[in-house]
Amino acid sequence: MMELIPLGPGFGAEVRGVGLFEVAARDEVYIQVRAAFEEHSVLVFRAQAITDDLQVAYSQRFGTLEIAKAASLGEGTPFSILTNIDRATGELVPPNHKEALRARANQLWHTDSSFKAPPALASVLSARVVPPHGGETEFTSMRLAWARLPEVQREQFANSCAWHDYAHSRSKIAPELASDRERSTMPPVCWRMRWVNPVNGRPSLYVASHTCAIEGMAQTAALTLVDQLIADATRPEYTYLHRWQVGDVVMWDNRATLHRGRPWPDNLHARHMRRTTISAGDADGVADLRPVRAAA
Ligand code: OGA
Ligand code: MN
Repeated sequence: MMELIPLGPGFGAEVRGVGLFEVAARDEVYIQVRAAFEEHSVLVFRAQAITDDLQVAYSQRFGTLEIAKAASLGEGTPFSILTNIDRATGELVPPNHKEALRARANQLWHTDSSFKAPPALASVLSARVVPPHGGETEFTSMRLAWARLPEVQREQFANSCAWHDYAHSRSKIAPELASDRERSTMPPVCWRMRWVNPVNGRPSLYVASHTCAIEGMAQTAALTLVDQLIADATRPEYTYLHRWQVGDVVMWDNRATLHRGRPWPDNLHARHMRRTTISAGDADGVADLRPVRAAA
């Protein structure tokens, strides 16, 4: 029997009694877990006998998997690999290494693949090697952030559109972190600032570290507003901090949450995580996310 243990301040749940294997194998378990995902936004599974095949079989239940983006580890496969272990040597990468800088960019509050079309519905992250301390992942609910906004902002943002650009968030860490190939394969995309969940009708605020502009606003004002919205959404009392153990799998709703990695002494300790990412479809509310141009 599936049990849900509440985790965070108003969102997040640990799933007990069923695991990834049962979701992959049995329709009725998938339906229950899918409902829990729609409701709680972050699901934690502990002590999973995780393999790449099981992670893919689980993730595919929820929709089409993204193929890892150009110039990333795992390119061309369904896995985004987050690691500070050099594949060739088995040693830890130096602090100026691209993967070390990428880990730093992941430490900015973001939602996965808002810079892609279609954007991501969900991410599934499994812990393969974890450091003895640090390296947690922190989450906040953008539904609760939306609900806390003053009415006038909710009205404004319901019809505002924002641009999302991978190169923008990377440039906050190092100007050239996004390569030419990444820039040309991932041009900026524009989405509404409110994403309504079609299953339960709950709106969430859709902005993150990748947001580089808001339609109809001067850029400096837009970036100041986005920073302010993110700061308000992520105050410590609103977040859930996940402390990883090997075998943990965490799934989150990219429509309704922001997340960030937390630092760890990456010159001393290995960390290896593998992520599958599920693209959002029209049934997940993407149709409503596309900008509507005002009629002339
Ligand atoms: C991710 C991510 C943060 C972390 O996998 O999308 O942002 O803690 N991870 O590794
Ligand atoms: Mn991420």
